[in-house]
Amino acid sequence: MKAGALKSIVLIGSLCQIVPAFAQLSDPEPDQTAAAPARLAPLPAAPEVDVRQAELGRRLFFDARLSGDATISCATCHDPDSGWADGLPMSDGYPGSRYFRNTPTVVNASLGKLVYWDGRLPAADLPTVVRDHISEAHFFQADGRLVIERLRQVPAYEREFREAFGGEPTYGRILNAVSAFLKTLRSRDVPFDRFLNGQTDAISEPAQRGLKLFRGKAACITCHHGPMLSDGDFHSLGLAANPDLFADPLRHITFRRFFRTLGVPGYERLRRDPGLLCVSKDRADMGKMRTPTLRELVSTAPYMHDGRLKTLADVVAFYNAGGGPDGTKDARLQPLQLTDQEQADLVAFLESLSGPPLTIKRPEIPDYELRPLGENK
Ligand code: HEC
Ligand code: HEC
Repeated sequence: MKAGALKSIVLIGSLCQIVPAFAQLSDPEPDQTAAAPARLAPLPAAPEVDVRQAELGRRLFFDARLSGDATISCATCHDPDSGWADGLPMSDGYPGSRYFRNTPTVVNASLGKLVYWDGRLPAADLPTVVRDHISEAHFFQADGRLVIERLRQVPAYEREFREAFGGEPTYGRILNAVSAFLKTLRSRDVPFDRFLNGQTDAISEPAQRGLKLFRGKAACITCHHGPMLSDGDFHSLGLAANPDLFADPLRHITFRRFFRTLGVPGYERLRRDPGLLCVSKDRADMGKMRTPTLRELVSTAPYMHDGRLKTLADVVAFYNAGGGPDGTKDARLQPLQLTDQEQADLVAFLESLSGPPLTIKRPEIPDYELRPLGENK
């Protein structure tokens, strides 16, 4: 256990979490599919986080000094006012580049199994996720040594690092502080969690009907289950190749460069995001994406790895049609024959998985200060 952990408390949101023995309560309705061991469960209890490290991380999350040209911060793309994402179909990326995937929210990101659409990194190793962001050309394009040097020129940071970690800014401490902050970003007061915890009127009648469909006729639960509504696995929904990906030369360049760097065979001929294949190099994984969480969808439109679907109604209509046309499609996606009413009910259920927007006070960013060079004697 870290020295600071004694002084730690459980941060934001966790205060609202009720943690009874939810094993009995987690599944008030019987599953309607014949073989559906999959279950839904409330958000797990918050991990303990060192408050001073998280507080320092909060500042760093909003500080553009972490990016190469010091113009963008984590909050530029993970903006608290846009559900901690950016509202764009695909991320803008570092100035002068463009990324080719949708920016996910960072709320609850610490709670899943893997992060990124292709599941490249484990959620349990957030410092590596932060480091990846700082050094990647399409995110912060920064040299860690430069970032450390910048922070050392800010007396307020020197003091805060000493208080939080017992020493000066180092790369590891920067990564750990931002990670501590990320762990505090969790859903709060989610109607569906209250429902699972026994409050039967916590979600509307349509949402309750939607839940039945989710478990039964629409069978969403086969892939979206557990506390994060994700099986932590990878599937192709058969999405057709997306022309927007190559319409912007900067995005196209990032796309080729990225898959070349990862050693994807035939990267120069790819016409679509290969998803898991870029990690596994297995042809069978073409187009498979990590099943995303369905928490906080209300504030994270547009949807899918390339943000091609604008609304939750669009998503449900997509599944109702049996998914996309691509041959890689998971065989379980079949036309669902849902009525308009049933589709609306499913949307109402999806909406019940979001709590009120998680807003925080934007921290002040401390200034550089000239250091006196001594007495000049
Ligand atoms: C230029 C936009 C941009 C900036 C700046 C940015 N991110 Fe991201 N972030 C993304 C995108 C896009 C992804 C998804 C990448 C992928 O799937 O390939 C992502 C993914 C993540 C994830 C994983 C979420 C998940 O569920 O997969 C975390 C955590 C995260 N970012 C944290 C940060 C932190 C911390 C910073 C600042 C150090 C930061 N991001 C800065 C765009 C950005
Ligand atoms: C075969 C597994 C599977 C089934 C069944 C499934 N999903 Fe998904 N879902 C996924 C995967 C994988 C993605 C991400 C795909 C991508 O972006 O390419 C996804 C994405 C989504 C998204 C977008 C999330 C976001 O943040 O962009 C929503 C919403 C969603 N699914 C809801 C549903 C609903 C509702 C059903 C039932 C009608 C359902 N899913 C059935 C695997 C599945």
